[in-house]
Amino acid sequence: MTQNQPNQPNSPQPNASPHAVPAKTISSKSWPFAEQALAEREASHRRRALRSLTPIDTLHVSREGQTLLNFSANDYLGLAKHPQVIARSVDYTQRYGTSATASRLVAGAFTIHEQLEAQLSSSLGHEAALLFGTGFQANSTVIPALVGNDAKETLVLCDRLVHNSLVKGILASGARFIRFPHNDMAALERQLKKGAEKYQRLMVISETVFSMDGDRADVDALISLANRFNAFLYLDDAHALGVLGPDGMGLGARRPGVDLLVGTFGKACGAAGAFVTCSEQLRDYLINFCAGVIYTTALPPGVVGAVSAALDLIPNLEAERQHLATEAQWLRHQLEELGYGTGGSESQIVPAIIGPEAETLALANHLETQGYLATAIRPPTVPANTARIRFALSCHHQREHLGGLVDAIAAQAA
Ligand SMILES: Cc1ncc(COP(=O)(O)O)c(C=O)c1O
Repeated sequence: MTQNQPNQPNSPQPNASPHAVPAKTISSKSWPFAEQALAEREASHRRRALRSLTPIDTLHVSREGQTLLNFSANDYLGLAKHPQVIARSVDYTQRYGTSATASRLVAGAFTIHEQLEAQLSSSLGHEAALLFGTGFQANSTVIPALVGNDAKETLVLCDRLVHNSLVKGILASGARFIRFPHNDMAALERQLKKGAEKYQRLMVISETVFSMDGDRADVDALISLANRFNAFLYLDDAHALGVLGPDGMGLGARRPGVDLLVGTFGKACGAAGAFVTCSEQLRDYLINFCAGVIYTTALPPGVVGAVSAALDLIPNLEAERQHLATEAQWLRHQLEELGYGTGGSESQIVPAIIGPEAETLALANHLETQGYLATAIRPPTVPANTARIRFALSCHHQREHLGGLVDAIAAQAA
């Protein structure tokens, strides 16, 4: 028996049925709301579209025949193309297959999932860890599970700039919620004081490194306020894992007082998926009550292999983290010299905050003509009048890459 060969790009499907309906002929019924919403987006010049690209190496992609130096990927440590990460992903796929074949509670609880959870909980210092399909899935389903049937008794206080997946989770929970001004610990304290008089349960939610600003939460202050008001502290460490904190394991790692920590594997781990770390009891509770654990297929073995290799590598990448910090500092300085605000960025995420959307798009387009992929981020992803280019650095970016980028920005500004 011959093995099936993988399809070559653009080659005809070898097994396509001669009776198959030709692609792209089936339409959907008219859905006026969608039509109208798209028209509104178009009118406000905010309609978005997917633009395909093909990765070339850790830093470059090709798009429409052009090679671009990528400043928009979250692969901060270049692990998506690291030979050890790829090798273990391939090894796990060959040994255990391409799919976990079922949800964890049915027949998808592979030993390798538990091994990865043990690796995570011991590196991060919490009693237990639990894997999720994506960070979006974790945030949008863990919060409703934690709030449970006590929505009316629960007040959630979250930073105004938290990621959409956290907001979705809070809204789905039905709890009363208030967004405190970004990183404003005095405002949080006031709201906790008021909330403690009225609500039986308080929850505080923040990111540790904010995804669009690259600034950091004051984790010490969050812990101390949460302890003082007996509030549950929920931190999303997506952009710090791999880059900051002890052994690069994130700003929420090994911090007593953090009740639940979320991390994602699609950023510095160079893979996909997510996890939470928490107490054994909460892990048990989530296995029993969190829809995002119960009703979904477990992470595929190839992803588990990639993540376990990434977690083995991360503690030893201190020089790479130092390089990232130095280059990010240099880029911030250059952007500020050119008159761009970089907000409170203190990480590998460096925004050039421009404000007007048209100007931001013009700069992104100009950079693309010069060979740089640096995507414009506009409302509603960021607040009104704060459109920006979000530069995401990789430890593989060298000074000459950044110098070229800065020259290209300066040329547009001139
Ligand atoms: C802070 C934060 N949390 C969660 C997510 C979602 O993670 P994922 O991409 O794994 O769905 C993201 C990524 O966009 C993020 O920036």
